[in-house]
Amino acid sequence: MTSSNAEFATRVLDWFDCHGRKDLPWQQAVTPYRVWVSEIMLQQTQVATVIPYFERFMQRFPTLMDLAQAPLDDVLHLWTGLGYYARGRNLHKAARLAVSEYGGALPETVDDLCTLPGIGRSTAGAIRSLGHGLPAAILDGNVKRVLARHEALAGDPAKADVLKQFWAVAEAFTPLQRTDNYNQAMMDLGATLCTRSKPACAICPLQDSCKGLHSGNPTQFPQKKRKSAVPEKSVRFLIRLNEQGQVWLEQRPAVGIWGGLWGFPEQTLDAPLANAVEQWPAFWHVFSHFRLHIHPAIERVSQDKTPVVNEASGQWVTLAPPPAALPALGLPTPVQQLLQRLQAQLESEK
Ligand code: ADE
Repeated sequence: MTSSNAEFATRVLDWFDCHGRKDLPWQQAVTPYRVWVSEIMLQQTQVATVIPYFERFMQRFPTLMDLAQAPLDDVLHLWTGLGYYARGRNLHKAARLAVSEYGGALPETVDDLCTLPGIGRSTAGAIRSLGHGLPAAILDGNVKRVLARHEALAGDPAKADVLKQFWAVAEAFTPLQRTDNYNQAMMDLGATLCTRSKPACAICPLQDSCKGLHSGNPTQFPQKKRKSAVPEKSVRFLIRLNEQGQVWLEQRPAVGIWGGLWGFPEQTLDAPLANAVEQWPAFWHVFSHFRLHIHPAIERVSQDKTPVVNEASGQWVTLAPPPAALPALGLPTPVQQLLQRLQAQLESEK
């Protein structure tokens, strides 16, 4: 390692001692399991959003064994509203694999960690460094931005050869001592100072050596993703209510959007609607890769008209009056919102 690499880590660690975050829930009572769960929740999701989900998750599943032994529906229920549900499914699957393949603990090496579903190289590095206290580099979105600017790395990090270059830089700067603090500090630098559009270079501990800053235009690094137009889809949610005030929910197939979660039967908008169907105003639900225009339609049926088509994967679910909790199933956010509205409507009809 050159002295400038060591100097880089020293500046980052000195900054961490003064300004780094040390009060996050996953930084308390640190275990590889807690670090893993937090890292998965923090993918594509802000710290402030994650905190209450993390606390509830740890209360319900304090150890990896508790998670491995739980039914998937319980895990997805605690994931309701957090989005990207494949993360929750993979977490559960990986916990079971950690039990069957690794003796009930998360492995220590990056290669072993990467055999578990949902864990890529950077998440593996975070678990090894933050959780096990061993040296490993990380390269999440925040770290990529800090390194791209400091080294004035041009090129699209989505391309394999450019990404390889980013990893080489990350490895070269990562110190063998205090790797946990260093990695946390790099993420915090990216999140708080070296932000996407308005980096606070004047107070950055790396300003002296930052090639991006010296180029005069640090935000040109890293190269931006090309934004493609977001496709749109429309769907009808058929909300079937029986005379007992129960609602019909179906479990979605394990793969695809909302895989394994419970929702209403869906139709295209051109499917004929039965008489006496009440239509609620349509609304948008926005995903990272498309927008869904949801048209809710309330159909009152008698119980003997239980839909038979998807009977194997459906059930009548009782809705207790508000503010009672919704059924303990994994529910996509718009389904959760519609059920809450339905709870209120049924209560007002009493
Ligand atoms: N994002 C990903 N990992 C994080 C961590 N450990 N602290 C804060 N933000 C993060």
